[in-house]
Amino acid sequence: MLKNPKIWPARLHHLSICSEDPERMVDWYKKALVMEDVTLDDGTTWLKGQQRNIIISEGNRGKVDHVAFHFEDKKHMESYREQLDSANCKVEIVEPLLMGNEAFSIRDPDDNIFHFGVSSLNDSGLSATPARLQHVVFRSQDLPRMVEFHTNILGFKISDIVKDEAGEVTANFMRSDPEHHSLGVFRADETRLDHFCSESSCWNDIRDWADHFASLGIRITWGAGRHGAGNNLFIFVSDPDGNNVEISAEIEHWKYEDPPREWAHEERTLNLWGAAWMRS
Ligand SMILES: [Fe+2]
Repeated sequence: MLKNPKIWPARLHHLSICSEDPERMVDWYKKALVMEDVTLDDGTTWLKGQQRNIIISEGNRGKVDHVAFHFEDKKHMESYREQLDSANCKVEIVEPLLMGNEAFSIRDPDDNIFHFGVSSLNDSGLSATPARLQHVVFRSQDLPRMVEFHTNILGFKISDIVKDEAGEVTANFMRSDPEHHSLGVFRADETRLDHFCSESSCWNDIRDWADHFASLGIRITWGAGRHGAGNNLFIFVSDPDGNNVEISAEIEHWKYEDPPREWAHEERTLNLWGAAWMRS
């Protein structure tokens, strides 16, 4: 079995989230993340801003329909798909959403669906407020199995590992390009989306986003702070369904060959500046 296929470099492209009240979610994201809405053929809504794209569809609150990663070109996408085939990873050809003429999908051990394709978007003319969709983090009841799959089968590289006093892994941050993590998994007593994050360009952007949220009456739910793992500055807000939305800046850059680093399961790992939101 071929292991560690070359996902590198790939980036988070879009996120498709379900809601029992899609209209309310669309209204919130349009204002809060400064996005425009487009109704797609299947009735779902595509929310778009520069370098950030979210699809909202009708379904169970908090469920992620899929996350999508994109490659620079078709050649990379095809070679990656062949490598997944060789690794006996079940690949399905899917209707490409926002990603050119071809895309395929896989399911991870927690049944999260990942689409892979090549971006076909031209986002000129959209709000340039800096927030590029950058990473997604899931909660899992079986973190070791998830990390084994995402590293050995999908080829993500481990950046930071968080371990509790018993040596059990409580969080894992993985990269698919030089940015410290594009995917994370947290140990939890439930399997669901933890949060997703958009990367801005500097500390002042975080200030501007916080002022923007304040003008809409949206409270910061965690932060401002600086993560230990990833070293990025952050603030969090919640959308109307309670999904956690992060804005970050200064995320670390790592080389392909950099070895994993370890952190203790304590507050400063998640927030060097103060209190942390511990998931387990
Ligand atoms: Fe994050």
